Amino acid sequence: MKSRILSPSLLSADFSSLEKAVKLCEEKGAGAVHIDVMDGHFVPQITYGQPVIKSIRKLTDLPFDVHLMVERPGEMIESFAQAGADWITFHQEAAVHADRIIGQIHSLGKKAGISIVPSTPVCLIKEILPLVDLVLVMTVNPGFGGQKFIPYCGDKIAELAAIRKEKGCDFLISVDGGVNAENLSSVLDLGADVVVSGSAFFNGSFRWEA
Ligand code: DX5
Ligand code: ZN
Repeated sequence: MKSRILSPSLLSADFSSLEKAVKLCEEKGAGAVHIDVMDGHFVPQITYGQPVIKSIRKLTDLPFDVHLMVERPGEMIESFAQAGADWITFHQEAAVHADRIIGQIHSLGKKAGISIVPSTPVCLIKEILPLVDLVLVMTVNPGFGGQKFIPYCGDKIAELAAIRKEKGCDFLISVDGGVNAENLSSVLDLGADVVVSGSAFFNGSFRWEA
């Protein structure tokens, strides 16, 4: 994976034209497509799952950056891998056995990510940082697009960048929620490698030049 990747979130796309949305990602320099899977339990909404991912898989060669906002993610890893997910990110808050799930993802030949919601401190994932390929820092409370970036979450991006340097780890830092044209450069300066953008990408004036 190369660093500084734009991963537009399909959550803000027009679901009646997913093909157009995926093509727009390609045209606007995306390095991945962010797919927010919500189960109506971990977060209140339900979005899409394995069958939708399977049917859009044929539209692009871009990696599918699947963000599982679900309870019991361990039970779904295999089916999402089969559907076409390339990076599979699950939530620390939803997983008792995070180490086992990371192993499961890797055994399927996929990149493993762990995500933390705004109220979860970085220290809770410290032990598994050497095992993961990606850490997704949620900078809004998960569940909806179009929310405002929560400033204190920025500290966690910097904290992870410092730990990565100190320990010699090579996980990517992904930032998800409220990133827009105004705060993009400060998010990158804090140490983000992957920028997820939903509403600013699909409805705003977001320009990717990183
Ligand atoms: C929120 C999702 C995000 C969301 C980001 O739960 O994980 O990926 O789509 O949308 P914006 O960029 O609008 O905050
Ligand atoms: Zn997301």
